Amino acid sequence: MDTIIAYVTDNEEDNIKIYEQAKSVLRSGGLVAFPTETVYGLGADALTEEAALKIYAAKGRPSDNPLIVHIANVDALYELAEQVDERALKLAEHFWPGPLTMILKKKSIVPDSITGGLDTVAIRMPSHPVARKLIEMAGVYVAAPSANTSGKPSPTRAKHVIHDMQGRIDMIIADDTVDIGVESTIVDISGEIPMILRPGYVTKAQLENVLGEVEIDPAIMGSLAEGVTPKAPGMKYRHYAPEAQLTLVESRNGAEKVVEYINKMTREHQDKGKRIGVMAPKETAGMYVADVVIPVGSRDDEALAARDLYAALREFDECKVDYIYAESVSTKDVGLAVMNRLIKAAGHTIIDVED
Ligand code: TXA
Ligand code: MG
Repeated sequence: MDTIIAYVTDNEEDNIKIYEQAKSVLRSGGLVAFPTETVYGLGADALTEEAALKIYAAKGRPSDNPLIVHIANVDALYELAEQVDERALKLAEHFWPGPLTMILKKKSIVPDSITGGLDTVAIRMPSHPVARKLIEMAGVYVAAPSANTSGKPSPTRAKHVIHDMQGRIDMIIADDTVDIGVESTIVDISGEIPMILRPGYVTKAQLENVLGEVEIDPAIMGSLAEGVTPKAPGMKYRHYAPEAQLTLVESRNGAEKVVEYINKMTREHQDKGKRIGVMAPKETAGMYVADVVIPVGSRDDEALAARDLYAALREFDECKVDYIYAESVSTKDVGLAVMNRLIKAAGHTIIDVED
């Protein structure tokens, strides 16, 4: 399949032509990848079963993993979801448009193929101007997972989407202003107490300010709390993962210990002819002896780490390293999302150098 690649520019007239083209693709049941403020999405008309099924095929995604439906105005909530209560409206008021996805009881209009057979639906109103304009102009609800091949890091640059999706989908809208860099926070409000299913840029504290008590899915916290020593066998599944095995390294006694450990492991691997990649904050990046060192964020700026995380993981693939080591980051604010993704990318391989 030929994939149209259209670059958004400052010329609004040209951009309108891009949206028109994307509209006709979506309306005829095709797939369009587009930027959002979190990561790139791979969109299809959410209410057309066959269109949604194409998403699973293009990504190689298991069909029981449900998709997020993207909307352009709050009224859409009433069309897609049952029981749009005060909590949903408050969340919409405070965080939409933006990086928050709500899980609500679904209406029957939402096809089962979108929700993986669940009786709930995930809904998000993105803030990225290209995403908004696309959804508005197309006049459809847009089902969109992240636009990566299933299991790979989500795309945060146009070249990532082109790499994964060229030849597999109808159109890619390219625009390099994806600036959050990790996927939206998912909060389930279909039950009594709201529960965070995936951490993101919108934090638990921010949600609690609006909703009162909010729980975090123990699967997220569990892996963080137990992750101090190498991996529980049952928890080894990889996601957001680069080709090379990634190991997370942390220490209670400061970064020097981490640097020392990683450099020791690096030399051992290099002696056997292996190439090593290291991902570290800018403060310590200069201390590593690895073949490829990618600075990501800084110790006191979790948002910066979020923005560059996936691009770094993909760069290691391009550089063909055999093993990757990454320093654990603070779980403050969006740092929790960064650690959650790193732990998954590492398949729960975490070394505490004190053990
Ligand atoms: O930032 C984002 O959310 C990006 C952009 C494109 O909007 N989208 C995204 O979609 O990350 P995806 O498909 O990669 O991740 C959606 C997650 C999956 O983990 C899926 O299992 C979960 O949302 N999900 C979707 N519907 C759900 C539901 N009804 N109940 C529980 N989880 C659900
Ligand atoms: Mg994804």
